[in-house]
Amino acid sequence: MADRTSTQRKKVKKPPSRASRKSSRQERPQSPRLAKNARNGAPAVSGAQLSAPGKHFLSDKVGHFTESVIREMTRQAMLHGAVNLAQGFPDFPAPAEIKQAAQRAVAADVNQYAITWGAKNLRNAIARQMGVWQGIIVDPEKEITVCCGSTEAMISTLLAVCNAGDEVVIFEPFYENYGPDSVLSGAKPKFVKLRPPAADGGEWTFDEKELRRAFDKHTKAIILNTPNNPTGKVFTRRELELIRDLCVEFDVLAITDEIYEHILYEGTEHISMVSLEGMRERTVTINGMSKTYSVTGWRVGWAVAPEKITNAIRKVHDFLTVGAPAPLQEAGAAALSLPAEYYANLAAGYRVRRDHLMPALTSAGFQCFRPRGAYYVMTDISAFGFKDDVSFAKYLVQEIGVATVPGSSFYRDPRDGAKQVRFAFCKKPETLDEAARRLAKLAR
Ligand SMILES: Cc1ncc(COP(=O)(O)O)c(C=O)c1O
Repeated sequence: MADRTSTQRKKVKKPPSRASRKSSRQERPQSPRLAKNARNGAPAVSGAQLSAPGKHFLSDKVGHFTESVIREMTRQAMLHGAVNLAQGFPDFPAPAEIKQAAQRAVAADVNQYAITWGAKNLRNAIARQMGVWQGIIVDPEKEITVCCGSTEAMISTLLAVCNAGDEVVIFEPFYENYGPDSVLSGAKPKFVKLRPPAADGGEWTFDEKELRRAFDKHTKAIILNTPNNPTGKVFTRRELELIRDLCVEFDVLAITDEIYEHILYEGTEHISMVSLEGMRERTVTINGMSKTYSVTGWRVGWAVAPEKITNAIRKVHDFLTVGAPAPLQEAGAAALSLPAEYYANLAAGYRVRRDHLMPALTSAGFQCFRPRGAYYVMTDISAFGFKDDVSFAKYLVQEIGVATVPGSSFYRDPRDGAKQVRFAFCKKPETLDEAARRLAKLAR
């Protein structure tokens, strides 16, 4: 299992010294041993054989982070036949209406590139719904870029706005992509702690002074994910206003990841940062279809930003991917036209799933931090007495048959997450039942 996503802990690998270059040249055969490629008869050469002597082929940037631990845990779950409560994808079907819309689009030959910044129907639907949900007027021609998932929207945005030496403020624990995203864009991530609730049913909180200290003249942006993965925190208006005030004072952009916008519990309200006074011109709002419509494999997301920033995002997006899947964008327009009751049912369904899994976790010995939104539950594993979260997660996947995500993958310093693991509950009742049955072994 990969240790963790690390943005700072890992040092960049230095190019080999002259002495070691010499010895590696001596070790390498003069001509690579070639094996016959069975399919086309051409010689097959391994990547290792192809590297030129002494050349440092890898970007220094990739030395700053490891592979995604979350995605690695899915592979571990498959390897060990474990119930996968690690990666956040639903194991139940997407709504029939939107699957039919995708089928219709393919049948109607919507099979070629869409406009690079997004199919008009989808952009119109996004603009319309931002008006309905957040009261924001958006120009679909000038302010929206449709990307390959919100993942691409985030990295395209960071690449479009960051210069070397810029700093990006990130609350931690954080969704693991943000660290590598900042590094790839040349920016330096600066982390501010979210502290777990002291008592049952409490909130994750941050220290206002610590947040203020993270802002200075080098700060280009803050990444804000609400509802939050992994904590389930939904930022309150007061907290957002505090962040807004800092953004205005230090002339900083807010880049918000709102992909769990509709997954809310106990009457919590999702407030888009862009809707706050003073933020319209300094917010990039990122969202997508993956979580709201249970289609994580479709890869359709978007960034909504003022025209100048959108122009820059569109340029990066164009050269990165050209465009998101055309027929699925048409299905996206249909999805965004679903009635309000769809969203009410979505949230209610997730509340049932949360309330299904949490008691099973508690009786197995986990301390659960009750989420207010999104579909994850962060837990404290101190009661099990393991060395750390990684060894516990290994034990769970291999011996108990349940895959989770070790808490350390959400922190810059792995010690901060050493007593936590995260469970995803975007699963069918029978999947949660099976997980509960297996986890019960921990209590014996
Ligand atoms: C906070 C957050 N942002 C983005 C993503 C990825 O979204 P997408 O599928 O739209 O790329 C995830 C997936 O788990 C997530 O939790």
